[in-house]
Amino acid sequence: MEVILIGFMGSGKTTVSQLLGHQLNQTVHDLDQEIVKTAQLSIPEIFQQHGEDYFRNLEHQVLDEMVDKEGILATGGGTPLREDNRRILQQTHTPVIWLQANPANTLERIHEQAGDRPLGDQLDVNGVQRMQADREAFYRECADRVVNTDQLRPTEVVNQILEVLDQAALS
Ligand code: S3P
Repeated sequence: MEVILIGFMGSGKTTVSQLLGHQLNQTVHDLDQEIVKTAQLSIPEIFQQHGEDYFRNLEHQVLDEMVDKEGILATGGGTPLREDNRRILQQTHTPVIWLQANPANTLERIHEQAGDRPLGDQLDVNGVQRMQADREAFYRECADRVVNTDQLRPTEVVNQILEVLDQAALS
């Protein structure tokens, strides 16, 4: 991979990965979409019919298969929760960028795609804040760089990531 994006639901991973792919002329892979292809079910259907553990096992399997492919990878918000996934993300030579957004902006984006996120759809702003706090250490453990997206347009986020990639290429 050229770059891997991690971060909470609604942090902009999908939008930013698409723009980055366009800029860098790279294929964009979305872990959730790969899971959907493998399971032949939507994410809410996987959670409903098989439960979260089954989803997490598929997520691990697909991450393991994808990590060494060419392109850009947008992970799921919960990918770094598992230790074996964190190890994969730490051991890869690909830069791992953590996209951060505050709870209000996050919630707004989650609401834009209501019904898509079994673990996000019921959250209010306090719930987002709590869940972000619970997960923060896991994101931090895997991230090479953090980009806070609160004041940035998606194209500006992309520019920051391109700067990170330039620096990584020089070092
Ligand atoms: C999840 C995030 C989702 C998806 C699943 C679980 C999570 O991905 O993988 O619903 O635990 O945070 P997005 O971050 O793309 O919404």
